[in-house]
Amino acid sequence: MEQPQRAVDRRQTMILFKDVSKVYGNGVAAINNLSLRIYKDEFVFLMGASGAGKSTLIKLLMKEEDPTSGKISVNSRDLSMIRRGAVQRYRRQIGVVFQDFRLLEHKTVFGNVAFAMEIMGKSRKEINEKVEASLSLMGLSKKADEYPRNLSGGEQQRVALARAIVNSPRILIADEPTGNLDPANAEQIMYLLELINSQGTTVIVATHAQEMARKMGRRILYLDHGARNDDMSSGGAGAEEARAAGDRVNISSAFGEFAANVPEEEYSSLFTEDNSVSDEGGK
Ligand SMILES: Nc1ncnc2c1ncn2[C@@H]1O[C@H](COP(=O)(O)OP(=O)(O)OP(=O)(O)O)[C@@H](O)[C@H]1O
Ligand SMILES: [Mg+2]
Repeated sequence: MEQPQRAVDRRQTMILFKDVSKVYGNGVAAINNLSLRIYKDEFVFLMGASGAGKSTLIKLLMKEEDPTSGKISVNSRDLSMIRRGAVQRYRRQIGVVFQDFRLLEHKTVFGNVAFAMEIMGKSRKEINEKVEASLSLMGLSKKADEYPRNLSGGEQQRVALARAIVNSPRILIADEPTGNLDPANAEQIMYLLELINSQGTTVIVATHAQEMARKMGRRILYLDHGARNDDMSSGGAGAEEARAAGDRVNISSAFGEFAANVPEEEYSSLFTEDNSVSDEGGK
């Protein structure tokens, strides 16, 4: 017997918000009845005015805050079911890059990237291997013994990225990762985020950099007073236009030193079009 054809969505969901609201203790409703779905293979931008709720959304994902109502699941796990003692372990699958880097000044580049693994009690051999690989990917091998204060802003941002990915997180979240960088460095960071995404990590980037986000041709989630505002998302159409006009950010021209570290097939595959706008299931 022939199997009936069904349209099955085979993409794996990584993050699901269902009717999520967050009201802080002072009565501010930072997230309002928000539903969204982010797939495992996605790279999405999170945009919205200051105060729109981007950082709150990230804190909810990290389980630094709990929703007032609604449900959040990550990798099919209901966050409300994670016990307090298991939160640290949960967070380990999420790499975060903070806007202000948060590097440890008294540790070298190597030490900064190794730190989390040391706390986890990983073996010296594993730490050395992973830290070296991660620094190499970020083009920072030669800077391993430097201290953060001797690095440029772009280099410090890459150290923060190296640290965020050293444990192969399932999800990488970057809050305004290019805020303090010049255009060339910002493009480098975007290239590296795409590289990380292409290797199977879900990437979420909160940013105010509208133009850059549109040129990247990835899905953009717009937040407005804690709710989705897809009316603002001419970003999708803008990205279409940008591609049609061949106006995509030419990240490859900005590689500099670290292009040599990345096998060609890896970065050529980065520039295939993948702008699949997913349904907003879960509503
Ligand atoms: N810990 C808190 N307690 C009370 N209110 C808060 C808290 N954190 C954020 N808020 C409020 O929640 C709303 C959303 O803040 P949030 O930090 O999520 O915005 P954002 O989109 O990240 O803004 P920005 O672009 O400026 O970083 C704002 O009105 C803010 O004042
Ligand atoms: Mg914020």
